[in-house]
Amino acid sequence: MKEIDLTLRVESLAYGELSADESRLVEAACAATERSYAPYSRFCVGAAIRLSNGEIVEGSNQENVAYPSGTCAERSACFYAHSRYPEARFESIAIAARGTDGEFTPLPTAPCGACRQALLEYEVLAGKDVPVLLAGRDCVYRVPSVRSLLPLAFTEF
Ligand code: THU
Repeated sequence: MKEIDLTLRVESLAYGELSADESRLVEAACAATERSYAPYSRFCVGAAIRLSNGEIVEGSNQENVAYPSGTCAERSACFYAHSRYPEARFESIAIAARGTDGEFTPLPTAPCGACRQALLEYEVLAGKDVPVLLAGRDCVYRVPSVRSLLPLAFTEF
């Protein structure tokens, strides 16, 4: 028997420690929360993706009265990004969320499992790590790659 170590290392940063590009991307994710359509959960999520062509594409969660028909911010953003700019590759991603009180969550909100799987598709296409910034009110978690958020991921069949 041997053990396989699947350790996830995340950096927790103060806002002042972000690079200018990272700050812009986090701001875009925060702004996207304003365009969330979440009349059922009132949990407003925004995602922003920096692309290799210089564009920043944003998405927000879009709920539906038939609950499962709605979709998360991350999938709104990545599916739109790749349908709008199919040649561009993902460079980095930022996610932010506001809770039912309308305030940004004190701790960063992490993507759900389905969104991790969806985002991984584009990291594989990029052929390199795509860092993920999870923005909270007081700090930002910098995750080195999508793959690190989804150990033992399903990537081929
Ligand atoms: N949500 C996201 O947009 N992203 C996630 O990764 C987790 C959850 C949304 C879905 C739903 O509209 C609301 O947050 C509450 O679950």
